[in-house]
Amino acid sequence: MDFLDLVKKRQSVRRYLSKEIEPDKLHRCLEAARLAPSASNSQPWSFLIVDNPELKDKVAKLTFDKVISFNKFVVQAPVLVVFIIEKPKIITRIGSFLKKIEYPKIDIGITSQNFCLQATAEGLGTCMLGWFKEAPIKNLLHIPPDKKIGLIVSLGYAPENYRLREKTRKSFTEVVKYNSYIQRQ
Ligand SMILES: Cc1cc2nc3c(=O)[nH]c(=O)nc-3n(C[C@H](O)[C@H](O)[C@H](O)COP(=O)(O)O)c2cc1C
Repeated sequence: MDFLDLVKKRQSVRRYLSKEIEPDKLHRCLEAARLAPSASNSQPWSFLIVDNPELKDKVAKLTFDKVISFNKFVVQAPVLVVFIIEKPKIITRIGSFLKKIEYPKIDIGITSQNFCLQATAEGLGTCMLGWFKEAPIKNLLHIPPDKKIGLIVSLGYAPENYRLREKTRKSFTEVVKYNSYIQRQ
């Protein structure tokens, strides 16, 4: 598939079939994530797969509640992948401090996007989840208290009739600038 077509095909999937995910497909998604670039090649991540149905349901239920319920769909996903931020190399930590840029958070975004794009190429659906109750999830999954969850990604097959949506994005001219932030007409 042409890369731009793949990018257009990836969308947040918020309905899932209970169909199991083939281990080799999941493996390739994780491999795409593992191969992602990172600041100083620190690779400040680990990927925790939650595929035990009972445990997965417990984690899914910690992404929403009665008041904020937009993540209710997450319980349908057969697999959740927790992207954990690991301690980067000392050089990255110094760089982050000096430049005031949180490189590990950028890296987590890149690796999770690699994961999601590979999933799309495999015919799988994903949704990045930035809204979750971190402390109880860490507790459930035995993630040490000093670690941070960067993102959770839901993974599964979308129903056959799940529509490919047109992308809602700012226009090309709104976001692209050449040579100067201020563009003279
Ligand atoms: C860092 C991040 C956090 C997100 N958190 C959630 C979330 O908690 N729940 C959800 O349904 N979608 C979440 N999304 C998905 C965005 O809403 C979605 O990517 C955006 O609306 C664009 O739509 P598309 O992914 O279908 O192209 C998140 C996306 C990102 C990148």
